[in-house]
Amino acid sequence: MVGMDFLKIIVASAVLILPEKSMAEIDFDPTKAFVKTCSLCHGVHGDAKTPLASSMNPPPTDFSSPDVQKRLTLETIITVISKGVKGTAMPGWSGRYTKNEIKALAQHILTHFMKHPVP
Ligand code: HEC
Repeated sequence: MVGMDFLKIIVASAVLILPEKSMAEIDFDPTKAFVKTCSLCHGVHGDAKTPLASSMNPPPTDFSSPDVQKRLTLETIITVISKGVKGTAMPGWSGRYTKNEIKALAQHILTHFMKHPVP
């Protein structure tokens, strides 16, 4: 089938163009990952308005808050996602996500939930 061969060439080219990334990382979608593993506490919109949030002390960080946006940089977010925050419900995710995936999650938080991201 000509169609299948064409598809195989496209897939093979994509693998050649992006040799330093694993296939799993090419498939990684930070929006889906956030919904799946973070939204339970932080909410799908990142504003921490979840039923679970009210039972937590401290509560999950509300990424829509201007004070939070002033405080959080890309580097801080990456560190927090990797290691978690001791003494809170925020777990570390370095066992679950690769460095690149954690960076993608951090950038997702900055670009989608923070109106005035701090570089
Ligand atoms: C079980 C609940 C829970 C889940 C799941 C969770 N978090 Fe959190 N998260 C928290 C809590 C609670 C805090 C507040 C910690 C604090 O006050 O320092 C927090 C804080 C944060 C912060 C900011 C820390 C700060 O200094 O304010 C970031 C960034 C963050 N989480 C990202 C994520 C990402 C990304 C995921 C998914 C991969 C995730 N969290 C999943 C509960 C959760």
